[in-house]
Amino acid sequence: MIQDIVQGIIVANECLSGVFYRNYIQSWKEATSNQITVEGKAYDTDEWMNAPSSILSSISRRLHLQPDHPITITRKLIESRFPAPTYQKHNTLFPIVSVGQNFDSLGFPADHVGRSRNDTYYINKSTVLRTHTSAHQADTFRAKTSEGFLISADVYRRDAIDRSHYPIFHQMEGARTWSRSAVPEGTTLARQVWDDLKTIPKHDLVVEDPNPSFHPDRNPLQSDHHSPEEAEAIATHLKRSLEDVVVTIFSAVRAAAAAAGGSSASTSEPLKVRWVEAYFPFTSPSWELEVFWQNDWLEVLGCGVVRQRLLDSAGVPDRVGWAFGIGLERIAMLLFEIPDIRLFWSRDPRFLDQFRERVDGKITRFKEFSKYPPAPRDVAFWLPRSTPAARTPDSTNEPHSAPNPAGGLAPESASNAPSSSTTTNSPSASVSSTSDPPPAPASSSTATTTYPPFHENDLTELVRAIAGDLAESVTLIDAFAHPKTGRQSRCYRIVYRRLERTLTSEEVAGLHERIGRELVARWGVELR
Ligand code: PHE
Repeated sequence: MIQDIVQGIIVANECLSGVFYRNYIQSWKEATSNQITVEGKAYDTDEWMNAPSSILSSISRRLHLQPDHPITITRKLIESRFPAPTYQKHNTLFPIVSVGQNFDSLGFPADHVGRSRNDTYYINKSTVLRTHTSAHQADTFRAKTSEGFLISADVYRRDAIDRSHYPIFHQMEGARTWSRSAVPEGTTLARQVWDDLKTIPKHDLVVEDPNPSFHPDRNPLQSDHHSPEEAEAIATHLKRSLEDVVVTIFSAVRAAAAAAGGSSASTSEPLKVRWVEAYFPFTSPSWELEVFWQNDWLEVLGCGVVRQRLLDSAGVPDRVGWAFGIGLERIAMLLFEIPDIRLFWSRDPRFLDQFRERVDGKITRFKEFSKYPPAPRDVAFWLPRSTPAARTPDSTNEPHSAPNPAGGLAPESASNAPSSSTTTNSPSASVSSTSDPPPAPASSSTATTTYPPFHENDLTELVRAIAGDLAESVTLIDAFAHPKTGRQSRCYRIVYRRLERTLTSEEVAGLHERIGRELVARWGVELR
């Protein structure tokens, strides 16, 4: 707890002793009450609370606003393709939002996997850390201050640990709408959209777009609201705007590679992109854009024609338009050749001082300042027989958002909605879950303990709570059921690595043992 408080304070960079004391008292009060305060805003917590203090204290970092930070440079590069006044920028929206904003306003069904406490950080039953920038779509449409907007922000998801996943990342949301009532006499909405398209620069990108703009089953037109011509025009405007972004980004990547003396296939071959049909509850038709990069198709964004019911309930029923969401880390990792997502959070000047925003828009690639060895350790255990709904090895292997950098909350993912059961499904009941790691289930006797079901993201969170950014990856390497008893076994490989120096084997052993102990205490597993 003390360690936790101190860490929170250090992270917030509040080193004046008065502030230190006030924060200490504040945190102390919070640990004993059902309230938390984040940047002066107070929230009541309840049994849904599962946001650890390490996450809450990172809210203040706002990497997308740090001068010369690679996330900021990436944001600005994309923003440069969406000029004011058509596109208004919103970069300081607060990350704690209502379930209504994050899910309901966008039409997410009540049992959508994205709503589960396994995937989303809750403050209380109706308040979450936003899981995507789309949480602000409805409000921004409602404000009616511009025809289009860009929202860049930090977003939060309980997720896997590896080199490209971190529980906090950054997204940019973009939208553009047209008003039906403002269409001048003698023209049509579709015509007007086509006219606007002329202002988007032409490109020579190789684009694969094999599917029709809409398809009755796979990617339906909102036929009650849009004529085929209108949807076609909006879809084309959307795709061309985003192809322009990709050209800008990858031209910068190639220029940086060429400047660094690289002549690999990725810099000499023509750039290829493709549009893939997708599904989001708040757009139809919808697509993802993939870029052929280093011999693989890489998803870079999700987008679509905004559902009219969203615009209607946001008080702008006469508007039609498109929206997209793009993950900034993935783009920044490509742009700067940053090999590990944890580096964005580094305060090491050897990292930060490498990046400068340049007026000519040129990118300098990241130079590895050190390479310290990884320390892999395995943890193998039997799940308790009583574990009611532990995921199968297959589903355990698939964090829902892994395939989508823009953060798609795939509707087809196995449903894992929060259960109404109070004891077995509330590993972090009460506000004390803000201390790291979350508390073990309360019980006086082992014989009668009911353990909550074990989910992979619980292990992920435990590892982060104990090892912090020293954990590079957590991978399921083996899962089987005992042929006779049916008992489930799991083996995870945890890779520890410090980016600034070599970890000693004692340090690693200490962390790893603690993780094992907590697994036993929290989920009743038996270490093997
Ligand atoms: N919010 C979506 C995600 O995180 C991306 C998206 C934004 C899709 C806007 C369509 C329109 O995956």
